[in-house]
Amino acid sequence: MDSKASSWDPGLATGVKLIDADHQMLFEMIEALRTNPHLRDLSNMIVALVRYAAEHFEREERLMDHYEYPGGAAHKQLHIRFRQDMLAIRKTFAANPARVDPGKLADYLDRWLIGHIKGPDVDLVKFLHGDVKKVERPAQATAQQAPRPAKPEELVTVEVRVPAGHVDHLKRVANLLAEGGTAAAKVESLLAGISEPDAKEALARVENILV
Ligand SMILES: [Fe+2]
Ligand SMILES: [Fe+2]
Repeated sequence: MDSKASSWDPGLATGVKLIDADHQMLFEMIEALRTNPHLRDLSNMIVALVRYAAEHFEREERLMDHYEYPGGAAHKQLHIRFRQDMLAIRKTFAANPARVDPGKLADYLDRWLIGHIKGPDVDLVKFLHGDVKKVERPAQATAQQAPRPAKPEELVTVEVRVPAGHVDHLKRVANLLAEGGTAAAKVESLLAGISEPDAKEALARVENILV
């Protein structure tokens, strides 16, 4: 994709001020990535993007929870995957800045944000406006973004070593994940926000998305 100015345009407005203001801010941050030549600042920009995206996702997810949006679980999964991509980028950049090309990163962010706004975010806003029917999308359109099954197909036993005082916590988390549903999605979302992939996983992910 060629370098270009910020990809925000009024056609991307959803009509919900809170959401639109966030999206515009994210496009401005992407534009800064394109135009700022200093690698020293790139690290701060990536951290700021990770943080702002997380805050924006939380705002959208609060709306989903408050209005019991039926597409919430699938939408949250997309947020989680994006956060995982950003954590991989942050990790890779910290280890080897040359592997993260700012132009390619900006292209990836533009593609992701535009696609996400036009699809899942618009669907959410239609629901918030009471236009529930239009939230339903053909299977083909959502195949790429299919949510994981509400329950894992197979439960397995794992053996891990944890401090004795955390055994009960671990059991409770494991039980929540085994039950699936909203609680499992919350645990997954929380983990996505605090855990980074290892360096090898991060690099593989980055090479897959920065093309
Ligand atoms: Fe959004
Ligand atoms: Fe979203």
